[in-house]
This record gives sequence, C-alpha cells and structure tokens, in this order.
Amino acid sequence: MARALIGALEQIEAIGVVPVVVLDDARSAPALGEALIAGGLPCAEITFRTDAAQAAIEQLGQDPRLLVGAGTVLTPSQAEHAVAAGARFIVSPGFDADVVRRCRELEVPVLPGIATATDAMAALREGIDVVKLFPAGALGGLPMLKALAAPFPTLRFVPTGGVTQAQLADYARHPAVVAVGGSWIAPRELLAEGRVEEITRRASEAVATVAEARDRERAPA
Ligand code: 3PG
Repeated sequence: MARALIGALEQIEAIGVVPVVVLDDARSAPALGEALIAGGLPCAEITFRTDAAQAAIEQLGQDPRLLVGAGTVLTPSQAEHAVAAGARFIVSPGFDADVVRRCRELEVPVLPGIATATDAMAALREGIDVVKLFPAGALGGLPMLKALAAPFPTLRFVPTGGVTQAQLADYARHPAVVAVGGSWIAPRELLAEGRVEEITRRASEAVATVAEARDRERAPA
C-alpha cells in the first residue's frame, strides 16, 4: 500500500505539471494521450465533469506510459468509479474527509483541494501532506501560497485554477510546490478541434519551464 501511495505522487512531482482535462468525447482520449507523451508530459487529470470522463480514464489508464488520474471527484462513490476505471490518483476541488478516507481505503493517492488555513488543518488531521491549492489564481496566486505555506511547513501544494504558462515558473520555483496544475495545456477547444500538435507544443513548453525553474531554485546563489 505504502508504495502505491508514494508512487503516483512521486511521479507527479517528477513530472512537475498536471494537465487538467475536460473531455467532451472519449474518442479524443487516445490522441490526447499521444500528444501529451510526445510533449514529454505523460500525465493527465481527467475531470469527472463530463460523461466521457470514465471511458477516457479506462482507455488512457491502460497505457503504461501515462499517469492518469481523476479530477473533480466530489463524493466517495465517484472515487470508487474513478479507481474502477483505472485512475491512479484522485483530485478534489475542496476538502472532504469522506472522500479522503475512501481513497485511503481504496489505496489510491488523493490530492484534496484546500483554499484556507482551516482546510489545511483539516487535511493535516487526515494525514494528508500534499494538497491542491484551488482556485490558486483567484485566491491570490503565489502570495497566497506563500502565506499558507508559512504556518504549515510540512504541507506541500499543487496550485491549480487560473494558472497560466506565464506564471508557471514562479509557482514551480517555490520549494513547497510539488507540481502545478491547469487546463491551459490541453484545453477543451484544442481537443474539440483536434489540434493535438498545439497540445504537444504546450506540454513541452511547460515541462521545459518547470525544469529551468527548478534548476534555478537549486543553483547556488
Ligand atoms: C481544475 O479543475 O483544477 C480547474 O478547473 C483547472 O483550472 P484552470 O481551468 O483555470 O486551469
């Protein structure tokens, strides 16, 4: 169990970016997977906001090159469906102890959303040490992340919501940031229009930005 729990989060940290995807048609899933792999970003959070999510996770989850998770998981039952479909991690927009506990029972890593210090304390109480900061942009962006990181030195973050490529480096450089999430890499419109080469371009741009930001963070002053 411990290895499974560590595995997906470690992979997310190594990759550094979590593309959040709203798929209207599960038939777009294979092209999405190939586009992300070609861009060197073999990870996707498929949101449970459309009927296509479950089928898309089923398809993409079979590709051993990809780390596929489920997003917008609001209930324990959705977590069960996501795991049954093959999701290797679960993301929630907010903090719900029942979802967290069900994920633990299912032995799947969960990234619950937090937006306040109260949420952070609830997450820590449940034994969570990596959270999604959501909606990061509307909450105040990096200053908010820094303000929350200060009193919770053991908590680490995946800021998501309103993040753009332009802000990616600043978030990625913060030592409490595990990875950065967002839909700008594979937005609905590009998928609907089949513009997969643009998804690949955005994926590789994001990966390069995170690598450079982390190098700078680690370089001696
Ligand atoms: C999410 O579910 O994490 C967000 O909808 C992603 O936010 P973004 O579309 O602003 O990147």
